[in-house]
Amino acid sequence: MESMIEFVHRRIKEKRYQNGIDFTMGNGHDTLFLSDYCNCVYSYDIQQVALDHTKTLIKGRGNVTLFLKSHDLFDEDVQSFDVGIFNLGYLPGGDHQMTTNYEVTLRAIDKALTYLSKKGCLYVVVYIGHDQGKESSFLQTYFLNLDHKLYNVAKFEMMNKNNAPYVVIIEKR
Ligand SMILES: C[S@@+](CC[C@H](N)C(=O)[O-])C[C@H]1O[C@@H](n2cnc3c(N)ncnc32)[C@H](O)[C@@H]1O
Repeated sequence: MESMIEFVHRRIKEKRYQNGIDFTMGNGHDTLFLSDYCNCVYSYDIQQVALDHTKTLIKGRGNVTLFLKSHDLFDEDVQSFDVGIFNLGYLPGGDHQMTTNYEVTLRAIDKALTYLSKKGCLYVVVYIGHDQGKESSFLQTYFLNLDHKLYNVAKFEMMNKNNAPYVVIIEKR
């Protein structure tokens, strides 16, 4: 079976988009991927090392802008977007203390849903392990309470594996 992020990429590949946001740049794989399907990509991380990796990976692609700032401030740069990815947790191969924080993540997701275009999709890849599931449980409560008249919310997860990562897909109706 495909990984959670492969599942996200497969769904995104079905369309082309004006604006895409990578809310957690990391090593830049999702940013590079989005740049093939979006006219403009905005990508965020709080670590310089993430920007350095990503800059090398994207090799000067003209449709990508990298920002060294927290993802909850994205609205300073872009006011409407059609597809977005949050790939939560810590930078693989980096400092495991520099991880996403549930309060900031919730603030960013809540704001993102305001700026998401109609029929646009937000993908959130959630890992249970990095903070003993704290971020996951706060997010689940938030997702469960999203108004079904405004959003379609679905979850893709391995049912037979404890603490496996999962993906939440939120489509604006
Ligand atoms: C699992 S990694 C992302 C993987 C990445 N999408 C890739 O393709 O390699 C999570 C990243 O989120 C970043 N991060 C943590 N808090 C953040 C915040 N408030 N704003 C933006 N990025 C943040 C971390 O520094 C880390 O690089």
